[in-house]
Amino acid sequence: MLVLPTEMNVLKVHRIEGTATYLTKVIMMSNRGSRLLKLFAIAACAVLAATGFWTYQRYQARSNTPLLDEVIERAKHTSLDDRQAWLQLARQALAAEHVQPIAPPSDPVNNRGNTPRAELGRLLFFDPILSGDRRTSCASCHHPDYGMADGLRRAVGAGGRGIGPARAGTGPELQRNTPSLFNAAYNNLHFWDGSAGTLEEQALAPIFAENEMNQSSAVELIRRLRAIPEYRERFAAGFGFETPPDGRDITLPNIARAIAAFERKLTLMETNYDRFVAGRDDQLTTEQTRGLLVFFGAGQCAACHTPPLFHDGGLSAIGVPASAEKGAPLDTDPGFGAIIHRADSFGMFKTPTLRNVSRTAPYMHNGVFATLEEVVDFYNDGGGRGRGLKVPNQDFKVSKLNLTDQQKRDLVSFLKALDDLIPAPLLPASLPSGLPVGGSR
Ligand code: HEC
Ligand code: HEC
Repeated sequence: MLVLPTEMNVLKVHRIEGTATYLTKVIMMSNRGSRLLKLFAIAACAVLAATGFWTYQRYQARSNTPLLDEVIERAKHTSLDDRQAWLQLARQALAAEHVQPIAPPSDPVNNRGNTPRAELGRLLFFDPILSGDRRTSCASCHHPDYGMADGLRRAVGAGGRGIGPARAGTGPELQRNTPSLFNAAYNNLHFWDGSAGTLEEQALAPIFAENEMNQSSAVELIRRLRAIPEYRERFAAGFGFETPPDGRDITLPNIARAIAAFERKLTLMETNYDRFVAGRDDQLTTEQTRGLLVFFGAGQCAACHTPPLFHDGGLSAIGVPASAEKGAPLDTDPGFGAIIHRADSFGMFKTPTLRNVSRTAPYMHNGVFATLEEVVDFYNDGGGRGRGLKVPNQDFKVSKLNLTDQQKRDLVSFLKALDDLIPAPLLPASLPSGLPVGGSR
């Protein structure tokens, strides 16, 4: 079996090299000491350098890692159902790209989310008491049944009724598609246009936004929560330092911290793909191993949707159209361009994660594509520019791909290997406010 290269060996070499360079510098700059001593030190450096070179050679030989280009070339000559060969190619592609396993997100210093705090956040998240009319909760749009999104093209805002797709047509449409909150804890940019900072900063915004939860008064929000004994106790347990449960810990910053602490628990780290990375060959179908090769190779997807998070933390313009059919005009949302007021950043959006992507249709900031097949067709055409639209700042990594139908199917199949295998039970049985969990239906 192929060994995934560890960074350890490389580090070792760097350290040896570093020491040798440092010593050489010291020797050359010093004008003290005898000539013999210098000669001796130079010899020592030479030995160190040779050791570094030798370690590197040994590492190269042992890791047996072909370059990605070589792997892609081999894939071209591999028969479609030679499972063993595809498994090996998939592992070689991961090794060539130095793919690492996913690790849990870290808590920020101002919000070391203990369990009572995250549990409180969960209740607040599902409690419509936060909204002006007591009917909408965060979960009205970010619901576990719809991958912590809503399944709608664009979110339905304040005044809308129901949860997820049931909200369609019941209220004003917001400007953009609702993103999943799974793994949002890993995002350094929030919102499609990257305009929101931390989860803590973001959490209060939808509560007070007129078109989302329409809570008009902070005083009213605090008053409502302080009136409920269970919230008083839970805030004291989550934030108080031996303070009495009299409601003094119920403040706006603490509401934000509790919600963010809950959101950081919405991690998604166990997928067939992750199990495969951990060494279990049986977790990917042959089709999916072929798809993995397209993802890293011909499709160039990994260039932006970089594992293990399946995003690169950046923004780019790919030329998303206003509607799905070919010949449709470019979407008019300026995205990041409106944030920094620059025309050359028009239509730049955040690279979304692809974890759980099969469960969060429709796709893109405007929800324009209904299926993954449509998304893959769009990329295969070369994005907006490939479809004949004028997208001056389209990212060069999105260009015509010429994938075969087989490759397209394999790619979609691989994306499904990124689905969460152990969905956490998130819905609370009841809420301290006594209102319906997740908002009124
Ligand atoms: C009416 C529907 C709706 C409600 C209610 C709602 N959201 Fe959202 N949420 C959205 C939409 C739409 C976006 C994308 C906005 C954008 O990118 O411009 C979003 C984005 C987010 C993001 C950014 C995710 C990322 O990484 O980009 C977070 C976090 C979030 N919401 C949390 C919450 C919380 C917490 C609540 C409750 C306090 C809430 N939302 C209530 C629709 C909603
Ligand atoms: C240049 C970087 C880049 C490359 C290369 C790229 N993507 Fe994307 N991807 C993005 C950005 C940016 C978005 C969001 C665009 C928007 O909403 O306007 C996106 C969105 C998506 C979405 C929608 C996700 C959602 O939740 O709505 C899918 C699916 C997707 N990409 C798959 C792929 C596949 C498959 C490939 C390879 C064929 C690929 N991407 C290549 C940057 C990239």
